[in-house]
Amino acid sequence: MRTPISVGNWKMHATNAEAEQLAESLAGLSEVDGVTTVVAPGFLQLARVAERLRSSGIEMAGQNMHFAATGAFTGEVSPRQLAEVASWVILGHSERRRYFCENDAALKSKIEAARVHGLHSILAIGERAEERQAGHTQVVLQRQLWGALEGLDIPEGFVVAYEPVWAIGSGMPATGEQAQDAAALIRAVLAELQGDAVATSARILYGGSVKAENIAEFAAQPDLDGALVGGASLDAEQFLAITRAIAGAKRA
Ligand code: PGA
Repeated sequence: MRTPISVGNWKMHATNAEAEQLAESLAGLSEVDGVTTVVAPGFLQLARVAERLRSSGIEMAGQNMHFAATGAFTGEVSPRQLAEVASWVILGHSERRRYFCENDAALKSKIEAARVHGLHSILAIGERAEERQAGHTQVVLQRQLWGALEGLDIPEGFVVAYEPVWAIGSGMPATGEQAQDAAALIRAVLAELQGDAVATSARILYGGSVKAENIAEFAAQPDLDGALVGGASLDAEQFLAITRAIAGAKRA
């Protein structure tokens, strides 16, 4: 049995006051059983959101981090610093890859650093529109997984988020079938890389224009274990409905 996960990525949204208000309105999530719920506010809001959600059962994530434990890296956040306020970290989001030159070698160091500091990674991968159109989706996902994970010691229950770049923030989600095909491929590549125990226990999430209205299609897929939600996670009602739907579908 894999415990499903619902992750809200707040990206660069929300001031302190807005983040606190959003955190307050997530109170209903503590009643949802059978799902791990994680939110990733901006770094400056992490501590105060963590404080608000302390007894809620909702877990905290960073949206990125540096791989070094400490050092002269102006503007960066280290795993040692992040682990004081969060237990998760999103790594390899396509916005990091696209705008901030995140590459596989750095990602590998970050995944290893997360493990050393007791943080759970959420490794995000996904193809661009032109890569899908050219029939290269499988090759891209394979390359991203090998690049980030080869030679590492990945724990059981490791989390990979399949996020096709063309579906993120576009209002055009993948179909359930496309997401299931990608998730099955991810599980097969994990088996090659890390063995069957890691592959079968890994939690694979779908991300890209997930809403309360379409989550059922993804939650119903056998290889999908939850969602990484951007825009809709800024709306407490939406995020609550998405999280409930994931828990309900995976309990059934
Ligand atoms: P979206 O973002 O739900 O707004 O499409 C998903 C993500 O970037 O993780």
